Amino acid sequence: MLGNFSYHNPTKLYFGENSLEYLKDELKNYGKNVLLVYGGGSIKKSGLYDDIVTILKDCGKNIAEIAGVMPNPTVEKLNEGVEIARKNKSDFILAVGGGSVCDYSKALSVSIHCNDDPWQKYYIRFEEPECEIVPVGCVLTMAGTGSEMNGGAVITNHESKLKIGHVFGDDVMPKFSILNPKYTMTLPKYQMIAGIYDIFNHICEQYFSGEDDNTSDYISEGLMRSLIHSSGIAVNDPQNYEARSNIMWTATWALNTLVAKGKSTDWMVHMLGQAVGAYTDATHGMTLAAVSLPYYRHIMPYGIKKFARFAVEVWGISKDGKSCEQLANEGLLAMEKWMKEIGLVMNITDLGVTSDMIEGIADATLILGGGYKVLNREEIIGILKSSM
Ligand code: NZQ
Ligand code: ZN
Repeated sequence: MLGNFSYHNPTKLYFGENSLEYLKDELKNYGKNVLLVYGGGSIKKSGLYDDIVTILKDCGKNIAEIAGVMPNPTVEKLNEGVEIARKNKSDFILAVGGGSVCDYSKALSVSIHCNDDPWQKYYIRFEEPECEIVPVGCVLTMAGTGSEMNGGAVITNHESKLKIGHVFGDDVMPKFSILNPKYTMTLPKYQMIAGIYDIFNHICEQYFSGEDDNTSDYISEGLMRSLIHSSGIAVNDPQNYEARSNIMWTATWALNTLVAKGKSTDWMVHMLGQAVGAYTDATHGMTLAAVSLPYYRHIMPYGIKKFARFAVEVWGISKDGKSCEQLANEGLLAMEKWMKEIGLVMNITDLGVTSDMIEGIADATLILGGGYKVLNREEIIGILKSSM
């Protein structure tokens, strides 16, 4: 375990079938003017909306709403939300939905009292908030992003064809999150599978960096094994509570700052996926799946020992006198087989990418330096072409 770090995660979690019961206790800690934020209507269909509104009314709260937060929330929607929040003097934001709703609520929390243009300040200049931050609580309905226990807030700007994430600090992380695996059971299968791969890749992004003996890697291997096991069950039996609850808990631990400790972390699959998302508005987890294998096959020679360890510890491949290279290849083949079995989208063409977009997507890909190989533009273009 190398590096110097501090560790603190301020989000309080309530997990399980009865977790919504704790909402009223939490609401006592926050202001009267609640801004209820949700997506395109799944919570109305499931009945969760009615349950939440009843609790808010019983607690004597004034309720304002922002409905229709879309998957991959946009900067226009953010600006619209700022107006609504200011008009209603909102002093608490309750996000009810998936990662998009939760991310959006965090972006809103730092924008309501901001005198600057939030997109320019947080997503172009990457500055930190100086204004008052409106507290956020979350009731999660989709497992995947880890947004329920982190400071990430990804916003898409279609006009400038950019999808950018800002990872804010402790003050922006949800004050509490309610995780009821039952809520995830109404998810369409496509979204469930995309979420599963998002979780898996969050772990990979942190695991595939560094060469030290690191506790975080052992935790990551356990999380990946649990996810592979539970995903196999959930794909065939989506109503299996045990599998869905394990997937939900793994999602939270995959990206709540724990397994990043002592790691430089990679995040290039996400940078490629986000650029594809900016051009296609495709489902986040699917954009990651579509670029992953070409990316990992490209960087494998630079991190060969870790890829060999991944094969043995995550996929159970026997060492059996094999070279690192053989093991590494077998590991990625096992991953590919699993990805196909659970039904992921395996190329960017199926997500709507055409050849004329490749240069633009490459330009929209932020290049980070924490992984095994710092890519140049030609390499990015090569990976994108191999992903078609
Ligand atoms: O809008 P509604 O009607 O609620 O429908 C949503 C949406 O269409 C639906 N859904 C969610 N829960 C449901 C449900 N449908 C039925 N039953 C339920 N229980 O699922 C669709 C997708 O929801 P969304 O919130 O967009 O998915 P996800 O949780 O994958 O969030 C994606 C966003 O999070 C960002 C992504 O870039 C993307 O913008 N990310 C956030 C991260 C973070 N905060 O750290 C990291 C991730 O890597 C990711 O970038
Ligand atoms: Zn992700």
